[in-house]
Amino acid sequence: MNKIGIIGAMELEVEALKAEMSVKRIVEKASMKFYEGTLNQAEVVIVQCGIGKVNAGICVQILADCFAVTHIINTGVAGSLSAELDIGDLVIGTEAVYHDMDVTSLGYEIGQVPGMDVRFFPADTAMVEAARVSCREAVCDITVRTGKIASGDQFISSKEAKEHIITAVGGYCTEMEGAAIAHAAYLNRIPFVIIRAISDKADDSAHMDYPSFEKAAAAHCSALVRDFVTKI
Ligand code: ADE
Repeated sequence: MNKIGIIGAMELEVEALKAEMSVKRIVEKASMKFYEGTLNQAEVVIVQCGIGKVNAGICVQILADCFAVTHIINTGVAGSLSAELDIGDLVIGTEAVYHDMDVTSLGYEIGQVPGMDVRFFPADTAMVEAARVSCREAVCDITVRTGKIASGDQFISSKEAKEHIITAVGGYCTEMEGAAIAHAAYLNRIPFVIIRAISDKADDSAHMDYPSFEKAAAAHCSALVRDFVTKI
């Protein structure tokens, strides 16, 4: 039986899904509340991990060790790195990379964790495909792109920082947890996918746009995840 861990960093990224699930048990660990139950008939554990890479990594390890999840979905908002993506649009991550892992002075490329056999953590291809089907069926009038996601412990809100990420690692969008979730899922051999909706353009307008659009963007993600859990 599949058991899907669904992680959002902020309450607004998981509140709609939590409201719709049937909760069997709530377990608190590492100051995170894990809601175990069913969503649209699928077995799920929904959790708000908090912002940033450490919170995200800890959360995945708890989902692996204490809940034996078979799949992981990371849902939430992100800043756009591509002119193809406007506020509200969706990104399904095929791979995730750290934009702030920098051991270039020792000859590594940006994003490469020394000792890891990959620089870009690959999402599960079947989950990516299923998410694309859900997009077509459940959220049809929104632009969806499938590709790389860049993560780091920074809210990106300048043209310079945005350009740096595009040059260093590329990607359709940037956020603060995806690559850490991908990294921890990769180490635990748990298939995962990251689904993000654009809340801002990660440039000089981001600090204005983000508060205005985070709610609507998060709602787009929730609509997708609600359908997607039935396809895993
Ligand atoms: N999440 C949403 N927008 C973001 C941005 N501009 N930078 C980092 N994380 C984000």
